Amino acid sequence: MGIKSDFRGEEGVRKFLNRKKSQYEKLNEKEKSEADKDALENPYLDSGIHNIAEDKEIKKIMVGIDIDPAEILMAKQLGEIDLVFCHHPIGKSLAYLSDVMTLQSDILEQYGVPINIAEGLMRERIEEVSRSTSPGNHQRVIDSAKLLKVNLINVHTPCDNLAAKFLKDLVEQKKPETISELMELLKEVPEYKKAIEQGAGPKIFVGSPENRCGKIALTEITGGTEGSPKLFEKMAQAGIGTIIGMHISEQGKKQAEEANINVVIAGHMSSDSLGINLFIDELEKRGIEIIPCSGFIRISRN
Ligand SMILES: [Fe+2]
Repeated sequence: MGIKSDFRGEEGVRKFLNRKKSQYEKLNEKEKSEADKDALENPYLDSGIHNIAEDKEIKKIMVGIDIDPAEILMAKQLGEIDLVFCHHPIGKSLAYLSDVMTLQSDILEQYGVPINIAEGLMRERIEEVSRSTSPGNHQRVIDSAKLLKVNLINVHTPCDNLAAKFLKDLVEQKKPETISELMELLKEVPEYKKAIEQGAGPKIFVGSPENRCGKIALTEITGGTEGSPKLFEKMAQAGIGTIIGMHISEQGKKQAEEANINVVIAGHMSSDSLGINLFIDELEKRGIEIIPCSGFIRISRN
């Protein structure tokens, strides 16, 4: 499902994996033994299976945006949870978060930013993210799952791809002209409606309601985390008028203002929930019961 909704298309994902394979082939034996073989087959290294305590039929899963040792304890306390499903990267998936970010270069190219510029600026940002995730206690929650014998997986970019595709289709279908029309459109999505009740609905971070949208781009809903602030100027030159995102740094906001790009922040937990819901609906169709937790807004479209 992640590949099917990937903005690069199935062909683009195949090319990405082929580049990984050719890089791997060039390594010497020692480097090969240290390389992660999963990278040759899994285009989303920020997602994976982290603990199989018991390989059993899955009937009930607990699903959350972030899973910490507290949620593992909760799963134990609730009882009969066959699997804990986490969205944000944990363990090795967190260590490899920056690996999925090249996806953003491809998306930017599709919106008209020359690939050399997109790749150059993203490379800088990818290295920054890689350094920032490096000191984290990646294995903490996985250790808890092992000790308490809880099955644990995380699915990040495949869900974010689903959310990005959903929003892109919505915008292309309804063609909002102004920022206020775009806001109204977003507010009709059940996850955002719920987020409004929770005080975390879609917000205009840059621009005003009467501004016209111009070309609307979904450059950072998927692809790991926020891209480089330096990209806004290049996006404006490429003809992008409005960005729909999940989050933006203060520095990014300033750059967007300077570039006259409108920024609508749809919401973080709500956008993550949208993607997870589209994924989880398929599990529900197979008779799996879903227990939402940790900020996850469960909406079933079944
Ligand atoms: Fe997220």
